[in-house]
Amino acid sequence: MRIEVTINGERREAEVWAGESLLTTLRDRLELPGSKNACEQGECGSCSVLLDGELVCSCLVLAVQADAHEVVTVEGLGGDGALHAVQNAFADAGAVQCGFCTPGFVVAAADLLRRVPSPTDDEIREALSGNLCRCTGYQKILDAVHLAAAR
Ligand code: FES
Ligand code: FES
Repeated sequence: MRIEVTINGERREAEVWAGESLLTTLRDRLELPGSKNACEQGECGSCSVLLDGELVCSCLVLAVQADAHEVVTVEGLGGDGALHAVQNAFADAGAVQCGFCTPGFVVAAADLLRRVPSPTDDEIREALSGNLCRCTGYQKILDAVHLAAAR
């Protein structure tokens, strides 16, 4: 079946099968590999995107559910090809090790700062609790979110 989705501000079309996840469509059909596929069970957050402004695990959303809706991926977070403040802060704070979890953390952190511009440690930990970093560099991720908020 054919779906039409606004992704990062651009109308995109894709031919998908009924049980296909939005994550698969983004990565395998629309050349947007920023959202990562690690667990495909909603456990790790590496596939996080915004669907109509709401943070979701794209591995748990059917592609057909995104039909006629709006998706923002890590590639489009900054807008106009620029990096988002959270992306710059992750780089400056050294919050990236292997980087596999980073897109998911960045999308979740950007979503938090949109809702809570100056979050506390606890608010950051709560907001990022659905994201797992296998390299376990959590303190620097926390630092990066504070840095982005301060800027
Ligand atoms: S790949 Fe979606 S939550 Fe892990
Ligand atoms: S930086 Fe490697 S999984 Fe998080």
